[in-house]
Amino acid sequence: MTKEIFVLNGPNLNRLGTREPKIYGATTLANIETMCSAKAAELGATLTFRQSNHEGELIDWIQEAADKKAGLVINPAAYTHTSIALQDAIKAGDVPTIEVHLSNIHARESFRHKSYISPVALGVICGLGAQGYLLALDALASHLEQKYD
Ligand code: DQA
Repeated sequence: MTKEIFVLNGPNLNRLGTREPKIYGATTLANIETMCSAKAAELGATLTFRQSNHEGELIDWIQEAADKKAGLVINPAAYTHTSIALQDAIKAGDVPTIEVHLSNIHARESFRHKSYISPVALGVICGLGAQGYLLALDALASHLEQKYD
């Protein structure tokens, strides 16, 4: 069975490369997409990579992932700390999800310590920069293999 993985990115991540590089690094989202495409090919997974600044659009895409029985790697950006709606979409769709953050959210402001996504995620990777996405793809592919093979 072909593994299908969605990688979704939340608000302001389209600005990576120039956005607070001391925190988020110099890697652009386009760079991350290229890295993820190579990793997905290695894993034999079909990749859908998207970014939105709009909560509702992210929810539509999580529902699409659920309908396709895809796994999800998500960096919800600031919606991590606010969005019950994203949590509900993941939970309702029973979407196997890994939460990723470029920065270590626990070493930053206290409002970033709370995640609405973590309770419905298989796991969380933070603080490892763009490499976190690749580690998440590895882990999710293994999970999907165990689940569906
Ligand atoms: C982020 C961390 C969030 O707190 C922040 O709002 C972001 C990016 C990260 O990747 O480190 O936009 O998700």
